[in-house]
Amino acid sequence: MTTIQNISITGIGSFLPEKKLTNSDLERMVDTSDEWISKRTGIKERRIVESGTASSDLAVKASLIALEDANISPSELDLIITSTITPDYFFPSTSCCVQEKIGAVNAGAFDLLAACAGFVYALSVAYGFISAGIMNNVLVIGSECLSKITDFTDRSSCILFGDGAGAAVVQKSPGAGESLGFVLGADGSQSELLILPGGGSKIPISQQVIDERLHYMKIRGTEVFKIATNTLVNLFNETVKKCGIELDDIDLVILHQSNLRIIKAVMKKVGMSMDKVFVNIDKYGNTSSASVPIALDEAKREGRLKKGDLVMLAAIGGGFTWSSTVLRW
Ligand code: UT7
Repeated sequence: MTTIQNISITGIGSFLPEKKLTNSDLERMVDTSDEWISKRTGIKERRIVESGTASSDLAVKASLIALEDANISPSELDLIITSTITPDYFFPSTSCCVQEKIGAVNAGAFDLLAACAGFVYALSVAYGFISAGIMNNVLVIGSECLSKITDFTDRSSCILFGDGAGAAVVQKSPGAGESLGFVLGADGSQSELLILPGGGSKIPISQQVIDERLHYMKIRGTEVFKIATNTLVNLFNETVKKCGIELDDIDLVILHQSNLRIIKAVMKKVGMSMDKVFVNIDKYGNTSSASVPIALDEAKREGRLKKGDLVMLAAIGGGFTWSSTVLRW
């Protein structure tokens, strides 16, 4: 076991926009029903930003809560890493927008893209920088305005996604959040199953891109569902092996919230009870890289992270990419 010692998560925060988009709202937008969405996904409502709000705005709100929780000022930060697939701009990075807005005058800043797996990817970078002695205080953010890249005429995808942000302050200090190890994985061979095809350097933005709605996320749901479930089961097993523990040792799983049926299938296949997994997908839908830190923050506020607990974070998303860690709380 390679415990990464003397690094801890000293503060956590999350922020959800106020405006709710319920299943009955969606019934008025596309040919769907509350019954179908609830049964197939477990989602009842999701949060949506007002126009004019960007991912950095949500990130700032979550970050200020996390910094207050950690009791440090923005000027003490050495680095900001934001995981997002909905950056304010291609460039400058969303992390730079956050850096300016919170006054993190001594911090470097960059974004990381690993879709829904991105927050734990970014967390691994923070732990790596700190354990190498390069940095002491790192702010890790997952922030998304997925409503801006959702095609609200496509009933097979628009029911899934929501907006939100979560943040964690990672510091060189003993305490809650010592990691027993990280697993990062990727398989680019089926990237077209979950993709935003237009607007990049391969298919630059044009009238044709807009006419063909290629500036919106495309998802081949059933195929993604199968890959996500199987990969997560393998990821659970690989993670406990790498961390030198058994699945039974895990007290709580913070799993990416993509579909309640995926969460249930994974927990069943690995032989863990649903009591051990945190679920809030009913309220927020899939918020991509914001999903894990929002769930972690809510779990903490609900008193579900107890001193000494082993907490597994795990996620899979576009790429495909997947990531996990086990934290000793
Ligand atoms: O973490 C990585 C990201 N992972 C995800 O986002 C999850 C991926 N996949 C899923 O969550 C599920 O595959 C969906 C919820 C997207 C779809 O569920 P499904 O059980 O795979 O349904 P399906 O796509 O096979 O569609 C079943 C039926 C179809 O009708 P027919 O062909 O059987 O007549 C669809 O046209 O349901 C229809 N359908 C809908 N009906 C009402 C598809 N979307 C809707 C809808 N409302 N919104």
